[in-house]
Amino acid sequence: MSTNKSKQKDRYDNKPREESYWVEGIPMPHFYPNLYVFRKLLKDIRGKKILDFGCGCGQFSYLLSSMGADVTAIDLSEKNIEDLKKLAKNRQVDILAQVASVDNCPFSDESFDIIFGSAILHHLDLDEERKACQEAFRLLKKGGRAIFIEPLQNAVWFKELIQYVPVRDKYNPRPSRLSPEYEKYLLEHHHPDRPLTSRHFIEVFRQSGYDVKVKEMGIFNRLDRLTRNFFMRRLICSLDYYVLQYLVPFRKKFCRNIVIMATK
Ligand SMILES: C[S@@+](CC[C@H](N)C(=O)[O-])C[C@H]1O[C@@H](n2cnc3c(N)ncnc32)[C@H](O)[C@@H]1O
Repeated sequence: MSTNKSKQKDRYDNKPREESYWVEGIPMPHFYPNLYVFRKLLKDIRGKKILDFGCGCGQFSYLLSSMGADVTAIDLSEKNIEDLKKLAKNRQVDILAQVASVDNCPFSDESFDIIFGSAILHHLDLDEERKACQEAFRLLKKGGRAIFIEPLQNAVWFKELIQYVPVRDKYNPRPSRLSPEYEKYLLEHHHPDRPLTSRHFIEVFRQSGYDVKVKEMGIFNRLDRLTRNFFMRRLICSLDYYVLQYLVPFRKKFCRNIVIMATK
């Protein structure tokens, strides 16, 4: 197993279980846009075969399944897969969940209509990411869609600047760069150091053979940490979805997320 994979597995097998991405029935702020986009892009998925790539504890797998899709979910972390199995059992949905790496999946060619991934690619190093995109391509039926939602960092100076602003999120805090805690935060940081630009994502999908479209989003949702109110978050995300496209072109520099829509 590569160093990065061991790091990822270690982090997700050992993360405190209460540190879920879905706290008390509400998605954590940085995951809310994913949910919003997810509902917009995946309208009628009844009977569709969907693979949730890097499913985590399975909240999206559960949603997809409750919308009528036939869901398979994979993740590197055994603990996450155990959690997903418990969730599926408690909510009485049928999800085939198994431990596997997104760059080497135990399924035959052209098995899925859609491959969905929320916040997974940025956990892969460049070699794993390239293989994962090719693997998704292999697994998709012709005309099938890969839909990924990832963090975006188009402007290096902006990324550097926001490191000075502390994130006081209970479950995913980040100290300010000015704080003595910042060094420790960096040491424990489990994301590989790699590009997260629109250009990079477009290239890696094109190179694997897809037709790719992307949508940068999430300026207003940087404010969503200010509220845990479900409707306020929904409103903030709607602002992003409907208003952002009319803003100046260089908005892409400041967006927090990218939605990648790739067709085989
Ligand atoms: C930020 S979490 C996102 C989980 C889920 N998709 C969600 O949106 O809630 C990233 C997940 O990627 C998984 N992961 C990291 N590298 C992986 C790999 N090579 N193959 C499969 N899963 C991987 C981790 O175990 C973790 O569950």
